[in-house]
Amino acid sequence: MAKRQFTPAKIMQLDTGFWGSKTLLSAIELGLFTELAKGPLDATALTKRLQLHPRSALDFFDALVALGMLKRTGTRYANTPETALFLDRAKSSYVGGILEMCNARLYRFWGSLTEGLRTGKPQNEAKTGEDFFGTLYADPQRLEGFLKAMTGLSVGSAQIIAKKFPWKKYKTFVDVGCAQGGVAVEIALAHKHLIGGGMDLPVVQPMFTAYARERGVAQRLHFHPGDFFKDPLPKCDVIIMGHILHDWNLDEKRMLLRKAYDALPTRGALIIHEALIDDARKENAFGLLMSLNMLIETHGGFDFTGADCCKWMKEVGFKRTQVTRLAGPDGMVVGLK
Ligand SMILES: C[S@@+](CC[C@H](N)C(=O)[O-])C[C@H]1O[C@@H](n2cnc3c(N)ncnc32)[C@H](O)[C@@H]1O
Repeated sequence: MAKRQFTPAKIMQLDTGFWGSKTLLSAIELGLFTELAKGPLDATALTKRLQLHPRSALDFFDALVALGMLKRTGTRYANTPETALFLDRAKSSYVGGILEMCNARLYRFWGSLTEGLRTGKPQNEAKTGEDFFGTLYADPQRLEGFLKAMTGLSVGSAQIIAKKFPWKKYKTFVDVGCAQGGVAVEIALAHKHLIGGGMDLPVVQPMFTAYARERGVAQRLHFHPGDFFKDPLPKCDVIIMGHILHDWNLDEKRMLLRKAYDALPTRGALIIHEALIDDARKENAFGLLMSLNMLIETHGGFDFTGADCCKWMKEVGFKRTQVTRLAGPDGMVVGLK
């Protein structure tokens, strides 16, 4: 029998994975995809448009071709269908907010992952022990960047939640920890009978209101300023919490679930959506890495499996729970009161 040949190729590919990642993040920072959305350009014109030094410009563009982020026909570079749709800042389908945040913040903070693993302490702006959101939001630019990033992170899931959840049975909803309102807006656009809203810290209100107005749903979406640890959650038929539970430790997660339960009527529903880890904790690498990202970003947060979430929901009183896969690594857990 032939002996199995091992190669280090898989290891080396992962080892240098950040090269490709940073190449994409720099392309976003430079506005490359937004420029190419105006029309294809050759290397000289693109170098000039992005104000690049000529030394590595060609390698940069061709690396993006090889990574599947650009097309080159003859001498001219163009966006792929995906980068044209999702990485052109001028389009409402732009998801680059999350990439901008990865570039401006997380790329650096992940540099001290080893320290985080040794100490169990966050490695971001809150490294000095302060509250994560308070520290992050103290700078208006970071506030705006973070809230837009959340829209990029959740818009794909929001569109599937709008399709897969039986919204016809319900009249009102509130997205708790709504950020810019990316999820609430997609649901309101898909279901004209719904009256909805978002609850978040008061500092978020201007960005929520502006985004709801820009997307034409401000009449049906109201902002509830509040602190979900200090205030009761707004009463409504459906509460959504996306990427909220993973920010907090287990006691805090349970407290938020209990508050959602209390705010819902009988037969009301709670929708939790996150990068749900698979129950065996072996396959959803993104979900597991997201949990490490919670180490970098928060004091006690961690991601979890669908089964974990169902168990916590049942503990606070939800009668029935169901796990549904959404796009890519994301999933939702619905709890019925
Ligand atoms: C990780 S983001 C998730 C945003 C959005 N739900 C999504 O999935 O795209 C967490 C959100 O919780 C909000 N938040 C954090 N602490 C809060 C608190 N004590 N009360 C209300 N909202 C809070 C943040 O402002 C932020 O918008």
